[in-house]
Amino acid sequence: MTSSIRSHDGRVALVTGDAQGIGRAIALALAERGARVIVTDLQLPLETVKTIGATAHALALDVTEEEQWQSAARKAGEIGEVDIVVNNAGYFPNRSIDELDLATWRKTMATNLDSHFLSAKYFLPAMRKKKWGRFVGISSNMVGLAIPGMSHYIATKMGIIGFMRGLANDVANDGITANAVLPGLINTQATAPQTEEQKRDTWTQQAIKRLGEPEDVTGAVLFLTSDDAAFITGQAVVVDGGQYRIG
Ligand SMILES: NC(=O)c1ccc[n+]([C@@H]2O[C@H](COP(=O)([O-])OP(=O)(O)OC[C@H]3O[C@@H](n4cnc5c(N)ncnc54)[C@H](O)[C@@H]3O)[C@@H](O)[C@H]2O)c1
Repeated sequence: MTSSIRSHDGRVALVTGDAQGIGRAIALALAERGARVIVTDLQLPLETVKTIGATAHALALDVTEEEQWQSAARKAGEIGEVDIVVNNAGYFPNRSIDELDLATWRKTMATNLDSHFLSAKYFLPAMRKKKWGRFVGISSNMVGLAIPGMSHYIATKMGIIGFMRGLANDVANDGITANAVLPGLINTQATAPQTEEQKRDTWTQQAIKRLGEPEDVTGAVLFLTSDDAAFITGQAVVVDGGQYRIG
């Protein structure tokens, strides 16, 4: 891959859930800007690694499992200390509150929220030594929308914003930032079951009248993980074509 903008040269980035969708687009974009990327998913994300080429490394990482984070940090250390963690892996079944069971609630919390805490626990020490680090959590603009059947998901996505705000305070003296990115409806396998009419109902509410693509999310992540964003922390950046407008 070639790019004239090498804003991430020399950086090592770990992205979760990047076998497909938004995570894959983020991994590709970081690599294009010069980062070595540790590409992780439930199964080895070999396709993503193949597309990026020699600068990518695949790891199996179930973000709900603490010992897998511990082992990922150890293996990542052999590749190069991680500068950037993008927590993207997500779980989002639609369940009305009457159908929602504790197992689904807990799996949503573990996938969408525990992961952020565990990544900080295992990747902060190396960032602190370098006095440089970036955490980006992929939240959702759904935190501000009236979508039924998603109370568990919205709780976690709001939780990501809260965690980033809190984490930002604890790591600021070491050159580390923590921010959330809130995509709107994005064209991925996760949203593929929606009908064209359902998708249109969403994107017609946006200022920019088209469905978002995974590549639309990458700009905010690239900026927040660059040197240019050194004074931006604890923020929630909405990337939804102008649908949700109250921060
Ligand atoms: N697609 C959208 O419209 C949209 C909108 C707002 C926010 N988001 C958020 O963006 C993120 C990515 O969404 P997407 O649409 O690309 O989803 P996707 O389902 O296409 O991809 C998610 C990836 O995460 C992986 N994953 C799931 N559970 C995991 C676990 N426990 N450990 C490791 N990997 C795991 C999956 O294997 C998959 O590769 C999610 O956090 C989602 O909540 C998506």
